[in-house]
Amino acid sequence: MPRNIRAVYPGSFDPVTNGHIDLIQRCANIFDEVVVAILQNAEKNPLFSVEERASMLEEVTSHLANVTVASFDGLLVDFVERMQASVIIRGIRAVSDYEYELQMALMNRRLSNKVETVFMLPAEAYSFLSSKLVKEVAELGGSISSFVPAGIEKRLCSKFGTK
Ligand code: PNS
Repeated sequence: MPRNIRAVYPGSFDPVTNGHIDLIQRCANIFDEVVVAILQNAEKNPLFSVEERASMLEEVTSHLANVTVASFDGLLVDFVERMQASVIIRGIRAVSDYEYELQMALMNRRLSNKVETVFMLPAEAYSFLSSKLVKEVAELGGSISSFVPAGIEKRLCSKFGTK
């Protein structure tokens, strides 16, 4: 029986990097629909507001017809169920990511047996990339042109008053 599989790719995306984009593209090739879900988390003290992060994600995924952008607060599994999705996507860059991701996946499985976590690998070229490091390099005036698209680089530079 053919099924429409909707997957949720959650994260902070503060801001989206080429590593995230690579993963979103891979998801879009596999799943019928992909919802990129931004966590509204005041605790993490984000650089960009949820609206800014959503606008950047919409910009970089506009060529992918089956990808949409949303935001959520509260439990991820509740959001996934509300969206009538069945899959959570998480990217694993290196072994060091695995322990935390395993904990989250198992906790989410306990919280909802309707949702399955799927781990995906970004291209090796992005295995060292994180939003945190990109922000640090941008703040200190280093080049980030190979880590984020030009539009995101512009917004980072204007936040930090660099270039
Ligand atoms: O990109 P990040 O910041 O590593 O993403 C973490 C995220 C958003 C996936 C995680 O913090 C999350 O799911 N938060 C929602 C709250 C929740 O459901 N907590 C229990 C999960 S085990």
